[in-house]
Amino acid sequence: MNTYEKEQQLFFHTYKRLSLEVDHGEGCYLFTKDGKKYLDMFAGLAVNALGYNHPAIIRAIETQIRKYNHLSNYFIQEPQVLLAEQLLKLSGYEKIFFTNSGTEAIEGALKLVRKWGSTKEKSNVFGMTNGFSGRTMGALSLMDKDKYRAGYGPFLEHCSHIEFNNVESLQKSVDKKTAAVFLEFVQGEGGIVPVTFEFVQALQRLREKFDFLIVADEIQSGILRSGKFFAYQHFTIEPDIVTVAKPIGGGLPLGAILGSHKVAEVWTYGVHGTTFGGNPVACAAGRAVLNALTTQEMQAHINAMSEYLFTKLRSLQEKFPVIKEVRGMGLMIGIELKRESAPVVDAMLAKGVLANSTATTVVRILPPLILSRKEADEFLTIFQEVLNEP
Ligand SMILES: Cc1ncc(COP(=O)(O)O)c(C=O)c1O
Repeated sequence: MNTYEKEQQLFFHTYKRLSLEVDHGEGCYLFTKDGKKYLDMFAGLAVNALGYNHPAIIRAIETQIRKYNHLSNYFIQEPQVLLAEQLLKLSGYEKIFFTNSGTEAIEGALKLVRKWGSTKEKSNVFGMTNGFSGRTMGALSLMDKDKYRAGYGPFLEHCSHIEFNNVESLQKSVDKKTAAVFLEFVQGEGGIVPVTFEFVQALQRLREKFDFLIVADEIQSGILRSGKFFAYQHFTIEPDIVTVAKPIGGGLPLGAILGSHKVAEVWTYGVHGTTFGGNPVACAAGRAVLNALTTQEMQAHINAMSEYLFTKLRSLQEKFPVIKEVRGMGLMIGIELKRESAPVVDAMLAKGVLANSTATTVVRILPPLILSRKEADEFLTIFQEVLNEP
């Protein structure tokens, strides 16, 4: 039995695996055991912002793991404190809580907004239609899609959703009993759908009127993926809470909840916790990620590559009527087709390029942020070749 067959036998079948056995990665490429090379245009679903085998991440992990790999929350841990300081300075938030994953950051944020609202008779929490918050019960309670929720109810009380980008639905939903509204400023799993300026403006106005919290889910869009540190910075709004995960641990499990002054004093000793959240090795890797991504050159590179890809893809749209829309921000790009995207993604895989199919008709591109012009061209050539196939 090969490893693929063993996996089929041993695991709950929650994942549809690619038929590749990866040996190692290097930069933007993955190399399989049978000696093939693949350009990875979805980077571990937005986790591997610096690609594979990045020397600064390896150095940070090696140095930290020789000191201690875990201590427990009885100890102050320097890698945590240093990463916290860096993240708060970069983001302008006041307080942080480290988690293991994105969904755990959402769960924590839910608890934080409930606690904040508990003294104000505010308990209603809203997510967005077509959103994705994770797989735990709180996260599912904020979502609407049957694909993720069917069979798991009942969900958390006083949790519901607003129609994404529908100002009327927003106005009808929130009131003085609203504790929080959660949203992705660019919906990722939902097919790379940015929020509209009109919706953000209405949200801001309604927050002033009813005094609720806005939670920006930046788990996929955050840490420069969108071209800015956070996707919400493309708008003139300051969320009260931000959740991050995916790229922040350099491939190790790490997430965080960032809170503004408004929630800074809500959590007190013993009210929330986690054994592994903020693992010191992951935090050390996180510092390497932030150091590498937040240079001016890197930010200029991300924006230049984004502009390049959008320009090229939009010109492909004129050539190939099957492309309905090219949308997104930074290096978070959705190419919506007029047909299912999975066969296109499969055909690209056969030609050595890994892209992702989401929301049935969308080819999702989330390359490492270090993607070069040459690698972008390689992707564009293969994509075009595949679109030319009957
Ligand atoms: C916007 C968003 N929120 C939350 C999550 C959940 O994160 P995790 O898979 O780390 O639990 C994801 C994961 O794809 C996401 O894209």
